[in-house]
Parts: sequence; structure tokens; C-alpha cells
Amino acid sequence: MDQVRIIRHPVVQHKLTELRDLQTPPSRFRELLREITPLLLYEATWDLEVEEVPVRTPMGEGRGQRLRGAVGLVPILRAGLGMVEGALQVFPEAQVWHLGLYRDERTLQPVAYYNRLPAQPTVTWCFILDPMLATGGSAVAAVDMVKRWGVPHIVFVGLIAAPEGLERFRGAHPDVPVYVAAVDSHLNPHGFIVPGLGDAGDRQFGTG
Ligand code: PRP
Repeated sequence: MDQVRIIRHPVVQHKLTELRDLQTPPSRFRELLREITPLLLYEATWDLEVEEVPVRTPMGEGRGQRLRGAVGLVPILRAGLGMVEGALQVFPEAQVWHLGLYRDERTLQPVAYYNRLPAQPTVTWCFILDPMLATGGSAVAAVDMVKRWGVPHIVFVGLIAAPEGLERFRGAHPDVPVYVAAVDSHLNPHGFIVPGLGDAGDRQFGTG
């Protein structure tokens, strides 16, 4: 099974195009990121397990399904923060575990600066949230951290990936599915995705 899924839904592509547009201001960028995330998660959650349960409706007894296992959302700071609110619309009771990672501008290597994961895993499913997968270094490092934590099911959910980063990610974590709205052309010499959308952290927080 191909572990990289591109979500080509027209509504997702429409919102992604507005996110890419350099005229889109931070307020609208944040709104779009919040709106698009549940649509990405809808596709990324088909494999969740359910259990059969009885349900009493106003008309009598029936059978239903309930999700099995606790869900954790793991946004990579800063840009992944903008996906949390939309993800919580899908999973209002999810645990949110932040990971702080930034890319060293010179080496492009990820630098971890925040990780408060407890010693034992508290979730069964973990959705790592980061809009951009460029060299793949941050995503690989985040999955390393969550695997060390001991979570059985891990999924990466993003907006745009570069082919170079996907290849690196597949090499490091072939067992972890990746869901994105687009795979773009290439990385430029500074490690930015082309055409991409620029720096997703700066565009949300007006710091570019
Ligand atoms: C960006 C982006 C990813 C990472 C992707 O974050 O949000 O986390 O770079 O690049 P990579 O695949 O080459 O690791 P950045 O380092 O700019 O930090 P920020 O979110 O705090 O702006």
C-alpha cells in the first residue's frame, strides 16, 4: 500500500490555493488552516478502529459504533499550532501534545526545543500535525520522538510536501502514513518548497 496519500478533494484544493496566494493575509491564512484541517483529518482517519455498542434511540434499541482507543494530536511548533483548532473539531476529547522543533537555517537540521511527553504513552493513535514537510527532517524527528514514547499508531498530516522530504521520510519511517493536500515540485537551495506557500509559521503569525 502506498503510504503517501494526496487529498485531491476540490474543496481542499480550493482552500490550499488561497493559502498559497501571497496576497492572503495572516488572519485569513489562520482561518483557512483551521478550515482545511478537518477535511485532511477526515481522510487520514479511515483506519481508526471502532467497537460495536448498543444505542437506545427515541424509537428503541439499536446498534452503533464507537471509536476505540484514545487519540493524541501532536502539533509541531510553531506552524502546526494552526491545525490544532480544526483537529479538535474532529476530536474534541483528544489529548494535545506539543513538540517544539525548528530548522537551523544554516544546516536545515531540526533542533528540538520542547517536548513534555510523559514516560508512558497515554494515547493509541497519534496524528502529527505540521503544514510543511520540506527536507523532512522535522517530520522524521517528530515521529522518532513519538515512536520512542511508544504510541502504536502514528500518522503524519500536513498540507504540502516536497518530493525530497517525502523520500527521506519514507526511508526513515516506511510504516507511518503521510496525508497531504499536495506534493510540490522541489526544494530551493534554502530548503523552501517550490511553489509551496512560503513559511507557514511566519504567514500565520505575521512574522515574515
Ligand atoms: C517549518 C515547518 C516545518 C519545517 C519543515 O518550520 O513548519 O516544521 O519547517 O521543514 P523540514 O521538513 O525541512 O524540517 P520552521 O523550522 O520554519 O519553524 P516554525 O514553524 O517555528 O516557523
